[in-house]
Amino acid sequence: MKIIAISNQKGGVGKTTTSVNLAAALAEKKARVLLADIDPQGSATSVLLGKEEGAPSIYSALIGERSAVELVLPTRIKNLSLIPSDLDLAGAEIEVARMDDHMMRLRVAFESLRKQNLFDYLLMDCPPSLGILMSNALAAADEIFVPIQCEYYALEGLGLLMEVTERIRASGANPSLSISGLLLTMFDSRTNLNPAVEKEVRNHFQEVVYNTVIPRTVRFAEAPSHGRTILEHDPNGIGSVAYRRLAKEFLDRQKKGITFVNAPGQ
Ligand SMILES: Nc1ncnc2c1ncn2[C@@H]1O[C@H](COP(=O)(O)OP(=O)(O)OP(=O)(O)O)[C@@H](O)[C@H]1O
Ligand SMILES: [Mg+2]
Repeated sequence: MKIIAISNQKGGVGKTTTSVNLAAALAEKKARVLLADIDPQGSATSVLLGKEEGAPSIYSALIGERSAVELVLPTRIKNLSLIPSDLDLAGAEIEVARMDDHMMRLRVAFESLRKQNLFDYLLMDCPPSLGILMSNALAAADEIFVPIQCEYYALEGLGLLMEVTERIRASGANPSLSISGLLLTMFDSRTNLNPAVEKEVRNHFQEVVYNTVIPRTVRFAEAPSHGRTILEHDPNGIGSVAYRRLAKEFLDRQKKGITFVNAPGQ
């Protein structure tokens, strides 16, 4: 099982949209996928489980109350399971920080899942902050996958993310953490700015950047309000085509073992 943190400390760049729809597109391609919702906002959970409440969340694994294996729930989508989030997770920032080994809680919690090998990929939808939840996710991950919104300041936040990744490696918490890729999201070819940002990101990070680009379409904003993935909401639209293409590129790169310890240009 490969563990991948879908992460960018910047808010609203498409982490949740990518977590849910990449997970669904991989599942459609018959990969066995587990999505862990590490964000107290719980947006991925509400798309995949609806308003169903009360199931124990990833929080209970972080505080050591339950093993991660006990938290796995099936979803309506074949080959896709979920470890839900809930609002308790918001308190984890403070509670977990007081515990021993507070960076390693999630890594330890996932050991039972690694042993079972019921899944090919565990994707984590990370929150938009550099707090304890994100550090735990990076310490638990084999790889980090970074959605980037095509906008002017896209590169600025990335330097910080690369620094944090390096710090996690250097701390010994996770010496082999690598970068799976960067994904350009919300791309709008009608503006001059987006293609310019794409060029800049590709020049800077080269082959770390996925060829697949996710276009901007209002369908992505609609789908979660109906509790659907884009593949369910608009199966033949440009958004679905893009996430299917992303899943294919992801699997191709995984097969070839393409990852990066350091992104070029650092
Ligand atoms: N390709 C796209 N085209 C248009 N809208 C999009 C696209 N991707 C995401 N969105 C919308 O942009 C908003 C932010 O996306 P999303 O929630 O995936 O970002 P996030 O990085 O998870 O945010 P947060 O940091 O708050 O967790 C949402 O309303 C989502 O529906
Ligand atoms: Mg999110």
